[in-house]
Amino acid sequence: MSSTDTHTGLFITFEGGDSCGKSTQIALTKQWLEERGVAPLLTREPGGTELGEKLRELIIHGPDDMDPHTEALLYSAQRAYHMETKVLPALHRGEVVLQDRYLDSSVAYQGAARALGVDEILQLNLWAVRGLLPDVTIFLDLDPEVAFERRTGEPDRLEREPNSFQHRVREQYYELSKTYADRYRVIDASGDIESVQQQIRRALEPLVEEHLRANKVGNA
Ligand SMILES: Nc1ncnc2c1ncn2[C@@H]1O[C@H](COP(=O)(O)OP(=O)(O)OP(=O)(O)O)[C@@H](O)[C@H]1O
Ligand SMILES: [Mg+2]
Repeated sequence: MSSTDTHTGLFITFEGGDSCGKSTQIALTKQWLEERGVAPLLTREPGGTELGEKLRELIIHGPDDMDPHTEALLYSAQRAYHMETKVLPALHRGEVVLQDRYLDSSVAYQGAARALGVDEILQLNLWAVRGLLPDVTIFLDLDPEVAFERRTGEPDRLEREPNSFQHRVREQYYELSKTYADRYRVIDASGDIESVQQQIRRALEPLVEEHLRANKVGNA
């Protein structure tokens, strides 16, 4: 399914396994854009809206007997609402959206790691969002063992999965980076925070430039 939607925004998603540095890098990317006169919308999945945050709580800290199908449908439900009420309107206003996780996460976690079927989960989510794909996806690639060392706080429901689960997630992101080579930027997330951020800025620079020129905003 492909989207018939056209918008003048720039839709940037950040993907990767647990604790790979997404939140840290999104915050720094936001700073970089603000220095250039752009005020990006920062949002996340699951969550991003009041309803979405309630669903996030149910998904991440829900009962141990939540079955994979229920989990996958809750993710796609919050995603449909998030896109419809928050992200798409921003993209139609021509804004830059920095989003922490999107449908690739469902494909990797539920489709591959939970073995619900990569194609089925992709189709379910494309249906939920009317086929809208990001303009660019920053994949923060990190060995799950290294990511585990970075983790702080109590593990949530998905973080309690065995290490093999995180390895299946990583493998599926590699597959997605080949399937969607045009929009994927694979970033080595093993370095320090600054060096990872430099890689991200280099990867985004041409698209941001083009967006600013086309929309005649910021310091293009
Ligand atoms: N390049 C890095 N090197 C070392 N530590 C890092 C690096 N990037 C982030 N961290 C630290 O690792 C921890 C996890 O980072 P962060 O919360 O950004 O990851 P995340 O991908 O958003 O995690 P989650 O999947 O839980 O949302 C934080 O304590 C953060 O300060
Ligand atoms: Mg995070």
